[in-house]
Order: sequence, then C-alpha cells, then structure tokens
Amino acid sequence: AIDITKLRGESGAITLDPGYKNTGACESAITFLDGEEGILRYRGYSIEELAEKADFLEVAYLLIFGELPNASQLQKFNTDILDQSIVNEDMKTVLKGFPETAHPMGVLSSLTSALTAFNPKSVNVDSEEDMYRAIVKILAKFPVLAAWTLRKKNGQTLYNKDTNLGYVESLLKMMFQDDNPKRNYKQNKVVVNALDKLLILHADHEQNCSTSTVRIVGSSHAGLFASISAGVSALWGPLHGGANQAVIEMLEEIKADGGDTSKFIEKAKDKDDPFRLMGFGHRVYKNFDPRAKIIKKAADEVLGQLGVDDPILEIAKGLEKAALEDQYFIDRKLYPNVDFYSGIIYRAMGIPTEMFTVMFAVGRLPGWIAQWREMRLNKEPIGRPRQVYIGETKRSFKSIENR
Ligand code: ACO
Repeated sequence: AIDITKLRGESGAITLDPGYKNTGACESAITFLDGEEGILRYRGYSIEELAEKADFLEVAYLLIFGELPNASQLQKFNTDILDQSIVNEDMKTVLKGFPETAHPMGVLSSLTSALTAFNPKSVNVDSEEDMYRAIVKILAKFPVLAAWTLRKKNGQTLYNKDTNLGYVESLLKMMFQDDNPKRNYKQNKVVVNALDKLLILHADHEQNCSTSTVRIVGSSHAGLFASISAGVSALWGPLHGGANQAVIEMLEEIKADGGDTSKFIEKAKDKDDPFRLMGFGHRVYKNFDPRAKIIKKAADEVLGQLGVDDPILEIAKGLEKAALEDQYFIDRKLYPNVDFYSGIIYRAMGIPTEMFTVMFAVGRLPGWIAQWREMRLNKEPIGRPRQVYIGETKRSFKSIENR
C-alpha cells in the first residue's frame, strides 16, 4: 500500500492532475470498477446479477451497510423509511415559489437543501445512530421531492408516499397519480420492474463527479442533506447525469433532420464544433460500459412489452452501429455509456425528458449516502486540493484614477 503521509504537500511538491484522471481521492470498499474489462461490482456482487435478482431497496442497503439484508433487516429498513416519509407541509410553500419553467434538477437540489432547515438535527451526526436517522430520512423524503418537481411543473396536486406500496411503486404513483388511467403504474409490473432495474444500474459508480462532490462537501461536516444537494447539482450537467436528457434531445434532432446519423457523427468528430455524441464515451470504461449492455436489452424488452414503437430506438441503434465502425470512435475507445439507452426507456414509461436526470438522482442516492457514510466513518480529513499557481507575481496597488 502507498504511504499517504509521504505524498502530502508539506514537502512543497504538488501533483498536478486536472480532472483527477489518475488521482485516487480515497480508499473505498463500496464499488469495484474495471474499465478495461467492463466490470462493475457493488460490494463484490456483479451488476448483472444484482440487476437481475435484487430490488432497489436491497441494493441500497447493500451499498450503504456492506451486506445484503436478511428478511428482517430489510423489513426494518423499509419500515424505518416509511416512518419518515412525510415531508413537512411548509416545503410545499418553498416549492410554490419556483416558476413552472424551472428545471426539475435545480428545484430538486434546492428542496434537498431546504430539508436541512426543517431537520436541523440531521446536520450533526456524531454517532452511527445519528447517521442512520439522517440516512433513513433522506431515503424516505428524496423520492417525494423528486415526484413533486414533476407535479409542480404540471401544476398538479402534491402527494405524499403511499405507505402500502414498495419504494419504486410509490414513486411512480406520486408522479402519475390522477393522470390518464393508461398510466396506472400501480398495476404495471413491466414499468415497475424496468424502473427498479434502471435505479439499480445507477445506484453507485465509485468516485464520479457527483459522488466526489458529495464526499468533498461532506468532508467539511456540512451534513448529509447539504452534501446530497450538492451532488444533485453536480449530476445535472450534460457531461455527467444530464447526458440522459441530452441523448434524447440529440436523437430527436437527428430524427427531425431526416434521420441521417452520418452527418452527426461527422459533427462530433469536428474539433471546431462543440457538439459531442451524447451518451458516448466514459472517463473509466474504455472497452464497454456493462450497464449499457443491460439497458440496451431492457429497452427492447420494455418497449415490446408496453407495445411502444419508438422510431428514436431505431435511430439510436443506427447511430451506435455507425459510431462503433468509425475510426475516430474506435481510436478513442468511445462506446455507448449507461445513459445512451436509459432515456428511451424513461420515455416509453411516459416520463418527461426534463425528469430523466431526476430519475438518475433517485437511483444514485444510495451510492451518495454509502460514500458519505464511509467517508465519515473513516474520519477522512477535509477535502482540500492544492494548485499550481500561474498568475501574476507581486504587484503594487494602483489607485483607480491611475488604472
Ligand atoms: N463525442 C465525440 N468525441 C468525444 C466524445 C463524444 N461523446 N467523448 C470523448 N470524445 C473525444 C474527445 O474530444 C477527446 O478527443 P481528442 O483526444 O481528439 O482530444 C477524446 O475523445 C477523449 O475525451 P475526453 O473528453 O478527454 O475524455 P474524458 O474522460 O475527459 O470525458 C466524458 C468523458 C465527459 C464522458 C466524455 O466522453 C463526454 O463528454 N461524453 C458525452 C457526454 C456523456 O455521455 N456523459 C455521460 C457520462 S456517463 C455518466 O456520467 C453517467
């Protein structure tokens, strides 16, 4: 093992690694990722097996506490979450203040931060019991807030959790209650199972941008909700979680343009054009993203089962094929990532495009919590990177009339 004390900056030597491409920020026992081989495991269990056999709440428990729960542990966890699922009525007033045009991710981040004001005791977590209470609270209330961002956008009534339903079912009910009866997701096992799988696939991904944000904010002991709120903001960007929305917008654009994928491939290769093929490429996966494989298969199944014939799926498949045969993408090892096909499934479920990244956030929540808890239990020092200064040397102040 590396002796970290020998690498500290006191000696004056600073490692410069923009984007932290080769810098480990912590030791972690949560998620294993091998980008060359396309392997992803949560606490040692392969993502393929978890996506097929586990449900989201079990995976959340596994990520946070390190082991799969037995039946009574899972029941207690579920009951503890249900006990905390009511969101303070005054939070609705906070939500009311936002314009309907506000992006749901901005609203979700703000509401998550506002939760701290209504639960001030959740900030100081000096014991594992305090930590558990804060964890259960955010797991309970976050999906309610996520559903509210959609209801607010549509000007609909805001509901709390239906405590007779499972975690994923109640999320769907809170989002779509009173809508067109065709969207009665309570009975729709296909949709519930597909969303459960999507949330599991998104649940953790070691030190990605939003997770690193959660750890670094949490390292100042700002509290779990503030850290998660910062994670939501980090996830929002199109280079990270916002890619799922950007993919659908790109596919729509290709469709509206007549469906010729080669034009967009050429645009993505042009270094003078800021356009990138959204849903392609990954900082760590340089062979394939194992989650993308599972999702591509699920997209076919879900659309088939729901009887949805979406021309966007064919465009996506055509684009993937064309890119994988193109030397530019081959040389740079650019493959579809988890979000290339996830938006197609969300769309088939009737979830509006602007909500896609919110769904990702609900999925990533257990990972953020697990990483925050690990960081606090390991008593990690405050995150505080150094820099290499390249600015002006010492200068004398000039009064305003002499500038
Ligand atoms: N389209 C076109 N070219 C690309 C793409 C793309 N999607 N992704 C990377 N490249 C090119 C870069 O231009 C660069 O080319 P160069 O070597 O000729 O300069 C090379 O591939 C390496 O790319 P970097 O940007 O250095 O790779 P990095 O690891 O920093 O970025 C990222 C990874 C942000 C995911 C990038 O591939 C990207 O922007 N993809 C599109 C957005 C996206 O899908 N994000 C979701 C990621 S998964 C997630 O967060 C859940």
